[in-house]
Amino acid sequence: MSGPSRESAYLGFSELLTAYRSSFLLLQVHDAGLFELIAEAGSGLEQICRDLGWDPELGERLLQALCGLELLLVEGERFYLSPFSRAFLWSGSSRYQGASLAFEQQLIGSWQTLEATLKQGSRVHATGDKSPEELATALDRYLGAMGEAARERAPEFWAWLRPPERGTILEIGAGSGAFLQAFLQVHPGWQGLFFDLPEVVARARRSAQLQPLGERLRFFSGNYLEDGGGLAGCSYGDQAPELVLLSNVVHCQGQRETQELLARAGQQLAPGGLLVIHDFFRDSPGPGRLYDLHMMLNTYNGRTYSRTGFEEMLQAAMGPGTCSWRSLASGSALAAWAEEEEVLDRWLAG
Ligand SMILES: C[S@@+](CC[C@H](N)C(=O)[O-])C[C@H]1O[C@@H](n2cnc3c(N)ncnc32)[C@H](O)[C@@H]1O
Repeated sequence: MSGPSRESAYLGFSELLTAYRSSFLLLQVHDAGLFELIAEAGSGLEQICRDLGWDPELGERLLQALCGLELLLVEGERFYLSPFSRAFLWSGSSRYQGASLAFEQQLIGSWQTLEATLKQGSRVHATGDKSPEELATALDRYLGAMGEAARERAPEFWAWLRPPERGTILEIGAGSGAFLQAFLQVHPGWQGLFFDLPEVVARARRSAQLQPLGERLRFFSGNYLEDGGGLAGCSYGDQAPELVLLSNVVHCQGQRETQELLARAGQQLAPGGLLVIHDFFRDSPGPGRLYDLHMMLNTYNGRTYSRTGFEEMLQAAMGPGTCSWRSLASGSALAAWAEEEEVLDRWLAG
């Protein structure tokens, strides 16, 4: 908590205490379809309340509160999307976060199991077993949310690297493929290798966003937790990847499994290559601080690390090497690892 650095400690306390109010409000008005209704053209109070079945007097109070939060703007009797809502909350935007909103809503119940989880010593499932259809929807939401976040972070993320003109990049646990897509778009001399679980690869093969990459992107499926679980075959012809990316995967399982995964990732890397890890770390500012609890509540044995603890794991997995860190303004952090300092210097933009 950053309370002491806030101008008023009491303000910090009340903001922390009531943070759920704005979150619930956001999720509910989005679910009601308000941002779609207002869209680009804006809409009047009467029309909005009629379309959403709201009482006009209470509806106006709600809309005014949304103006106070800068989610809407009002001009006379007409309400418009603010630039923020227009970017993130309206489906017509390329930056729309619809899957992230649905995914987060799905997670609320698990935060109510915190006490039971602490007492049981392992994850408590907030809902019962899911049907195959429910599982497919949950996977779509999860990958959709990952993709939306990745598209936001990718430009800042890749700006850190100064890759050579040609090469091969492997992403292990590539999910939506959004990081690979963003990289391959700006580096036309590069080829991509997409590795993930079979059901995720099947979705990625159908993805309209990845289709334009054609033959430049190859797909591999397997389970990275298993010895020889498919990673060993990941190459473009006989070209071992010069760049290997692990984005948001080191937190997915326990420490021993992650250390093994790091070692397997390192084995794929061509000599002089770079391993890049993107994740949330306990000592990073922002959302990283609660990410460990998110893993505690929502995964079998996922967890996060401090940067120092993670560097020790890297060293145990890869042997001697050198590591450089960068915090992203969007809240996560990047670590780049290479065998030698001069390799790191060559790859990093500063
Ligand atoms: C949190 S998502 C990250 C997706 C993407 N890298 C990103 O940052 O947007 C983790 C990904 O790792 C994949 N994954 C998890 N466990 C895996 C395993 N045992 N073998 C292969 N892939 C796995 C998941 O299917 C998912 O796509």
